[in-house]
Formats: sequence, structure tokens, C-alpha cells
Amino acid sequence: MTTPLIFVLNGPNLNLLGTREPEVYGTGTLDDLETLCAETAEGLGIAVDIRQSNIEGELITWVHEARAHAAGLIINPAGYSHTSIALMDAILALDIPVIEVHLSNIHKRESFRHQSYVSRAADGVICGLGFAGYRLALIALSDILEEDQ
Ligand code: DQA
Repeated sequence: MTTPLIFVLNGPNLNLLGTREPEVYGTGTLDDLETLCAETAEGLGIAVDIRQSNIEGELITWVHEARAHAAGLIINPAGYSHTSIALMDAILALDIPVIEVHLSNIHKRESFRHQSYVSRAADGVICGLGFAGYRLALIALSDILEEDQ
């Protein structure tokens, strides 16, 4: 049996984690987040490919890549959640399970953050739990993939 591969994609400004609005996003860095995901995945017996981009088109290209290469997708589209119909369309074209993650509780914040185009395409959404949201998303995807076998 081959090890399932999960893509973990992070959108714009998440490279600044740790220094960017720490009162909202915490003090952990993107490196810390990537380590958490890698360690969680190892414990679950799944593989992860973790990437971050500030460019909408690059994220879309990676979602297309996931169609061919990934068994599941975790995505924090950051600001593009609230603006990108193109990213939503790319995710709608996937036939693998998709979980959208936000570090902060977007529903507790400004009204323009309450709507996410990506949520219309995702199978599940986790928000407001900080880094733990990624860990929970990996556990959920691992469960879903096991059930599908
Ligand atoms: C975010 C929430 C978005 O509204 C914001 O634009 C981000 C991060 C989060 O993880 O809480 O950049 O996706």
C-alpha cells in the first residue's frame, strides 16, 4: 500500500507568521507550523507536501497539481479566501477531500472575513484553533482516506 500524500497549502502573508499581528495569529512561525504538520503526518502514517505562496496563480497551479498527485488537500487561502473565485473554481475541480483551515476565527472578526469563497468548495472548514486546526485537519483527512479504502 502506498503512503497517501496530503498537500498543505498556505496563502499570502502566512510567511510572516510569528511577527505578523501575533495577538491574532500567535507567535509560532511558518517553520514551526511546517514542523507540526510533518510530525503529525508521520504519526498518522501519511506524507505531507507543505507550501506557502503570496501569489494567487501559484496557489491555483498547486491545486491543479494536487488533482494528479495528492490524496487530500488542506488549504489556508488567507486573504484569497474572501476574494478568489478562481481559487474556488480550482478546488471545485478536485475530486479529493479538501479541508479549509484558518488560524483565527474569521466569524468573530470584520464582516468582510465572514464570507469565504473557498468554503463553498471545501468539504470541511476549521477556524479559530490556531496551529491545532492543521493537526485536526490532518487527523480528519487521514480518517476519511482510511474509510475510503
Ligand atoms: C486567515 C484569516 C484571513 O482572513 C486572513 O486574511 C489571513 C489569515 C487565518 O488563518 O486566520 O491572512 O486565513
